[in-house]
Amino acid sequence: MAENLMDKIVSLCKRRGFIFQGSEIYGGLANTWDYGPYGVELKNNLKKAWWKANVQERNDILGMDSAILMHPRVWEASGHVHNFFDLKSDCKNCKKRFKSADLKDKTKCPECSGQLTEARPFNLMFKTYQGPVEETGNEIHLRPETAQGMFVNFLNILDSRHPKLPFGLAQIGKSFRNEITPGNFTFRTREFEQMEIEYFVNPKDANQALTDWIESRFNWYLNLGMKSENLRKRQHGKDELAHYAHACMDVEYNFPFGWAELEGIANRADFDLKQHAQYSGRDLQYFDDLKKEKFYPYIIEPSGGVDRAVLAFLTDAYQEEKVKEDTRAVLKLSKELAPVKAAVLPLLRNRPEIVELAKNISQDLKKSFNAVYDDTGSIGKLYRRQDEVGTLYCVTVDVQTLEDKQVTVRSRDTMLQERISVDRLKEYLINQLT
Ligand code: GAP
Repeated sequence: MAENLMDKIVSLCKRRGFIFQGSEIYGGLANTWDYGPYGVELKNNLKKAWWKANVQERNDILGMDSAILMHPRVWEASGHVHNFFDLKSDCKNCKKRFKSADLKDKTKCPECSGQLTEARPFNLMFKTYQGPVEETGNEIHLRPETAQGMFVNFLNILDSRHPKLPFGLAQIGKSFRNEITPGNFTFRTREFEQMEIEYFVNPKDANQALTDWIESRFNWYLNLGMKSENLRKRQHGKDELAHYAHACMDVEYNFPFGWAELEGIANRADFDLKQHAQYSGRDLQYFDDLKKEKFYPYIIEPSGGVDRAVLAFLTDAYQEEKVKEDTRAVLKLSKELAPVKAAVLPLLRNRPEIVELAKNISQDLKKSFNAVYDDTGSIGKLYRRQDEVGTLYCVTVDVQTLEDKQVTVRSRDTMLQERISVDRLKEYLINQLT
């Protein structure tokens, strides 16, 4: 059933325009995915909800958007050049490459039983060249995390905004990792988006800040409608901590393929600021002007994946309900996340007055939220399609509308239908959506 659910999600994503295989007409580029019209709306809504909760509604967090390409010394300082490795083994027979951590038997190929090579380190950063000459001196990396863009701007933020501890920086952006074993649809890819917060605190407050952020980030998923039975916390063992982390708690989701990481909340201590101070020669300490003391703040980092969160919310929202003899597939996404808030549907496609009125209504609704006009099928088909993409309300314009100036509004969740006057429709929907 669980595997089946993943197949259903992948199929719905393609059929309805959420997520497509990357470069599909060329046979696809493995493990790359393109977000279609509904996918990009969902993803944008998710990022907007994160930004609102973590930047706009707080007084202690500032937003940023730093460059993907950074000075090569950044990755030496951050430890990624020396520590950002997976151990991998190659099969001498079928030539496939495996992550050692995934292998039960480190000597035998899990696919063809051929002999595996000794495990060798494999750096996960993507290399490229800056400028027209492809030579070692021009080598740079695509960032494997957005975090470093915030650390290297610590001084700029102190000098331009003068924040007092505790304060945070937040950004959303693409990261790249040359993963050995990408897979499970959009769960593990080589190009993905992260939503990261770097929260700077006095070292004595770090443990409490870590606890608070774990709660805050866990609750964010619940507040956006994720089912609590599908969400859990898992503490990292000492042997799985990243090279920079003192402690880390994962928020895990119960994906169809099992429990897996959605977000990590780590105590990075003073590792990053100290390293960048040493490598750049700049003083990256914080000066407490009340106590007249200088120190390196500790950093608490909630770091989540946009694509993983989209996949988790899609999976969580998917439901099949028996309606009479039929099965209704519906995405019960929250009102914040649903890609389309209202669809305006003409009951009769061959009546120009009905079509025109429906188009005018949808045009007017679009000014306030994402609404669509759809006349590409019978009303039954249109309802079914809108349910499958999670549209919250369907507004039907029928013959009677021409006389009484009322439309039928059908709720996705209750399937109840109400007649609402066209004049009051927008206000009615805005009330439902807020
Ligand atoms: N700055 C800390 C950091 O990058 P991470 O645990 O390596 O920590 C944070 O990554 C989050 O980024 C993960 O919880 C996951 O949601 C997302 N992520 C990491 N690697 C990914 C990949 N290959 N594909 C999709 N998402 C990924």
